[in-house]
Amino acid sequence: MSFVKVLIFVSCAVIVSGNPTPFFDEDRLSDIGMHPHMHQKSHESHKKIKRSFQIDQAEFTNAYWINKAKDTVDTKVKTNVNTKKAKNVIMFLGDGFGHTTIAATRVYQSGESSKLSFESFPNTASSKTYCVNRGVPDSACSGTAFLHGVKTNNGVIGLNAAATRGNCDDTNNEEIYTDSIASLFLKDGRNAGIVTTTKITDATPAAAYANIAERNWEDNSGVLRSRCNDSEIYDIAEQLIAGSVGKALKVILGGGSRFFINATETEHGAQGTRTDGKNLIQEWLNTNSDRTFVKSRKELMDIDVKKVDQLFGLFSTDNMPFRLETIEKKEESIYPSLTEMTMKALDVLEEEDDGYFLLVEGGRIDHGHHGNQAKFAIEEALEFSKAIQATVDRVNLDETLIVVTADHSHVMTVSGYSPRGTDIFSATNSGDDGTPYFTISYANGPGFATHFNSTSGQRVNSQNLDTTPINFRFPATVPLKSETHSGEDVALFAVGPNAHIFRGALEQNLIAHIMAYASCVGDGLTVCK
Ligand SMILES: *[C@@H]1O[C@H](CO)[C@@H](O)[C@H](O)[C@H]1NC(C)=O
Ligand SMILES: *[C@@H]1O[C@H](CO)[C@@H](O)[C@H](O)[C@H]1NC(C)=O
Ligand SMILES: *[C@@H]1O[C@H](CO)[C@@H](O)[C@H](O)[C@H]1NC(C)=O
Ligand SMILES: [Zn+2]
Repeated sequence: MSFVKVLIFVSCAVIVSGNPTPFFDEDRLSDIGMHPHMHQKSHESHKKIKRSFQIDQAEFTNAYWINKAKDTVDTKVKTNVNTKKAKNVIMFLGDGFGHTTIAATRVYQSGESSKLSFESFPNTASSKTYCVNRGVPDSACSGTAFLHGVKTNNGVIGLNAAATRGNCDDTNNEEIYTDSIASLFLKDGRNAGIVTTTKITDATPAAAYANIAERNWEDNSGVLRSRCNDSEIYDIAEQLIAGSVGKALKVILGGGSRFFINATETEHGAQGTRTDGKNLIQEWLNTNSDRTFVKSRKELMDIDVKKVDQLFGLFSTDNMPFRLETIEKKEESIYPSLTEMTMKALDVLEEEDDGYFLLVEGGRIDHGHHGNQAKFAIEEALEFSKAIQATVDRVNLDETLIVVTADHSHVMTVSGYSPRGTDIFSATNSGDDGTPYFTISYANGPGFATHFNSTSGQRVNSQNLDTTPINFRFPATVPLKSETHSGEDVALFAVGPNAHIFRGALEQNLIAHIMAYASCVGDGLTVCK
């Protein structure tokens, strides 16, 4: 076999004119991640524009691999350990952002050898995500683990495992409360904020500020559905606007306005789902005149951060749309991107010099996977990576600890053996039944029905399927309305003060303790004591 230039054209519609650029050169340009034109590429491939992939001829030599490795070893041995107190901590939480999603997103971005923004962080660890009563967690118990430092039961937020999910009385039992890292920052006189693409009352963001026995008690009607008394339980939305942590948050950005208004009121073109007549947005505003509420991207972009003491933004009635939907409908001017929200949150938090804890959730990676809609999930994951890059580009890493991790993984796999550079969403190899199989598939989920012909008892030939829609469901082995999370360990990447403590195979709840250690909050061991 002669090692000549190998050109692989990915099956699409139009050939991009001009010279195909090897991805490797771009990769060498940056030691921390991606470049703007790389993002563009992923969108191009998405719009079915032909993407060509060329393996760098240098890859066929020893020198390429050896020199690249030498440079990396050199960088690693020269990386200094920073043991200063972290003034700020930013936690990037990719909901359902497991290892296979990371690998697939990298391919989607611009090929196997490209790097996502956080992949150059000097420290990594793995995190064991099981909860007290389940081997595979949900976002409520995992959020309690990595934000409060205590593992608990599925569905429970901010209460230890003595709580029974959905038990009316447990929510008011302060003896089983746990304390979030956001709470510890506030007690230390520093600031805290949350940014998410989901409902702001969804389990992960709620774990920053709520203590509640049932994640579905997002408003009073949720409490009533469990036959509990809504005058005796503060639902998650109420805890956000009036709870000790919630009311003190400096920045709150996400979706889910319906949980804050009554069924007789309308916001973002939809009715509220509260039935207690409360308008929590108004109540939040009434409490303090320095508070600013925004409900659209334009309002968010137009705020004067100097005049804003506390910022609350809700941009949709429920979860914010998948970014791919926003792109397809050309609604980028209506919905802020995760990067835009994160930058605005930092603008507000940086107005004061006290230091802050910020939770940024790429929340809808998870939702894409639950529908076996890998295109949705992976575009969300790429958005998540972009928000991290924008943050790395602006904060001072000498005093800011950045932690990137996931709450749990999903049952998505990346199957072999497509050639390098193959579209991650394609089906290039065939099974023993002669029918092509997709690189991406799931162990379970609603995609089963799309790919299984119950009349013939055979798999549907993918060539007979329209795979172009952004909501296309990838195949699943077991039919299930909603694809499940999975139980393998997730990755953690860290940079900044005391980031070197994140190493090894960690219990997920250790993450909160290491963040507290690094930033000198709480009454446990810290770098300051
Ligand atoms: C709910 O709790 C309130 C306040 O404790 C009480 O007045 C009311 O009777 C309770 N409602 C029901 C249906 O038990
Ligand atoms: C709130 O909504 C419920 C359910 O639709 C309705 O019965 C109630 O009258 C409303 N409350 C107010 C104050 O509008
Ligand atoms: C399902 O199988 C039947 C019987 O072989 C065939 O007629 C039909 O076209 C198949 N449907 C799809 C969607 O492939
Ligand atoms: Zn989920």
